Amino acid sequence: MCGIVACLLNDKAAPVLLECVRRLEYRGYDSVGIATLSGDIYVKKDEGKIDDVQKRLDLTNIPGNMGIAHVRWATHGLPTGNNAHPHTDCKKRIAVVHNGIIENYKELKDTLQDEGHIFTSDTDTEVIAHLIEKYMEMGNGLEAATRLATKDIKGSYAIAAISADEPNRIIGVRKESPLIVGVGENESFIASDVPAILKHTKKVIYLNDNEMVILNPTGVLIKDMDGNLLDKKVNIIEWTSDMAEKGGYKHFMLKEIHEQPEVIKNTLMEFSEIEKVVAKFLEFKRICFVACGTSYHASLVGKYLFETLLGIPTDVVLASEFKFSEGALDAETLVILISQSGETADTLKALKIANKKSETLVIVNVLGSTATREADHVIYTRAGPEIGVAATKTYISQLISIYMLAIAMNGDNKLLEMLQIVPSYVKDALGMEDEIIQIAKKYKDSSDFFFIGRGFSYPTALEGALKLKEITYIHGEGYAAGELKHGPLALIDDDIPVLAVVPPGDSHDKTLSNIEEVKARGARIIALGSSEDEALRSEANHIIGLKGEITEMLSPIPYVVPLQLLSYYISIERGIDPDKPKNLAKCVTVE
Ligand code: F6R
Repeated sequence: MCGIVACLLNDKAAPVLLECVRRLEYRGYDSVGIATLSGDIYVKKDEGKIDDVQKRLDLTNIPGNMGIAHVRWATHGLPTGNNAHPHTDCKKRIAVVHNGIIENYKELKDTLQDEGHIFTSDTDTEVIAHLIEKYMEMGNGLEAATRLATKDIKGSYAIAAISADEPNRIIGVRKESPLIVGVGENESFIASDVPAILKHTKKVIYLNDNEMVILNPTGVLIKDMDGNLLDKKVNIIEWTSDMAEKGGYKHFMLKEIHEQPEVIKNTLMEFSEIEKVVAKFLEFKRICFVACGTSYHASLVGKYLFETLLGIPTDVVLASEFKFSEGALDAETLVILISQSGETADTLKALKIANKKSETLVIVNVLGSTATREADHVIYTRAGPEIGVAATKTYISQLISIYMLAIAMNGDNKLLEMLQIVPSYVKDALGMEDEIIQIAKKYKDSSDFFFIGRGFSYPTALEGALKLKEITYIHGEGYAAGELKHGPLALIDDDIPVLAVVPPGDSHDKTLSNIEEVKARGARIIALGSSEDEALRSEANHIIGLKGEITEMLSPIPYVVPLQLLSYYISIERGIDPDKPKNLAKCVTVE
């Protein structure tokens, strides 16, 4: 996820671009850049947070009343000055900013290089500047050349482009990455999101996929990809800028929960990258996952998946305990470390230990983080920056990466097809908000909760309990459903709600028996299962019923969503800010 802005003004553009792009910093913060046009194209860009780069370079000190800007969250190429946007063509007459992923950029880059184009970055984006250059050299204007360039590109994009040969014109185009148009008094804007431009105009046009916008001094034109003019509605936005930054959601956590269907789609785009490296992993005799917190729960799903799908003995070790497992490391073990941040001290320490004797793979959300530099192999999740302290969308993207890895190793394309429809299950799960709010209101004053599940639902139960602890300050205990009778049953009474995770499948009936056990001790049951599961409905005081028949194996992906929402709404009921729970930090850099 990155943020892009473009503007055509009557006044100097660079200070306005900087101010607008600052409001998109929540979309990415590893590098920033601005390009303006005043006869020539002027570019200032570098790696680092906006304030740091501004102090170093004074980004506003470039001429011109029009330009483009970008705040980056690296996906292709490390966060460096060269890889920062805007990117230019060979003659520095064209500049582009881009949010999204160009899936076929390697093929395009090879062809363009064969045709003599010189590249200066490792990004996928730079191909766009060279494609536009190529089509402009054939006699097309910027608009037609951008249209032709997008025909060559596979993937997702929101692009803004300028050319020194066409002053007073900015082109924007969108496919599967957000892009809005701001219509001001004698000035116009393009941006990834509304907050960027709210200070300048409240009149916004939302672009759909395969639509193009042309900003010029007389206003804005919206066209389809055949060049036909479209008549689009101008919306009047009534948000405050704080509301707008959160996309209209009250908290980043809620916004991030709702971003999950899109995150899954983005993460799935990595499948071809994963396929390229898996052959080597098949040689290992043992897998060992290492992680902390939520990433540990994703690892547990990984264990069940690897053992079920691949039959490879798989262990899961908490990173802070990993040194006690050092003795079992050898060259036949692949150590897979999972970390959203790639900077967690316990995980980095474990990585150092693992590197001594075994091959290491990290599954990480932050490109260029320490873990990515120290491991032998890297898989990037594509969740974009997560601002809420509690991990939500990064957990889902970790799960998707683990499933893709197991599927690539197992080679079963049917499973891949099933994974492609998971976003629709997640969307359905997001539709359960009203029921979940009612349950949150009823149980907000409980002092303890149990979360139970078997097999693939056990990590989901653990993750549900962790979310509850973190953002509601209620004690939540995640337990393997079959293990309750070995002790914790003594704690159960009618004050304790038990949330049972019971998808359809092999474990279903046994978990139902465990529900009977706790019910007999007075517990109130909140059941999370299929909406068509009458047996479960008859056992439960409340049911969160998910639509559709997802397999037990894939259930950890949609089934975690209602648990995220339940904790979120209990936290709201208790007057807690879920984005900033007490005593916790987003990235834990101490052991
Ligand atoms: C829970 C949470 C933490 C992290 C843990 C590991 O919501 O965010 O439990 O999962 O601190 O962090 P990473 O994944 O960055 O290594």
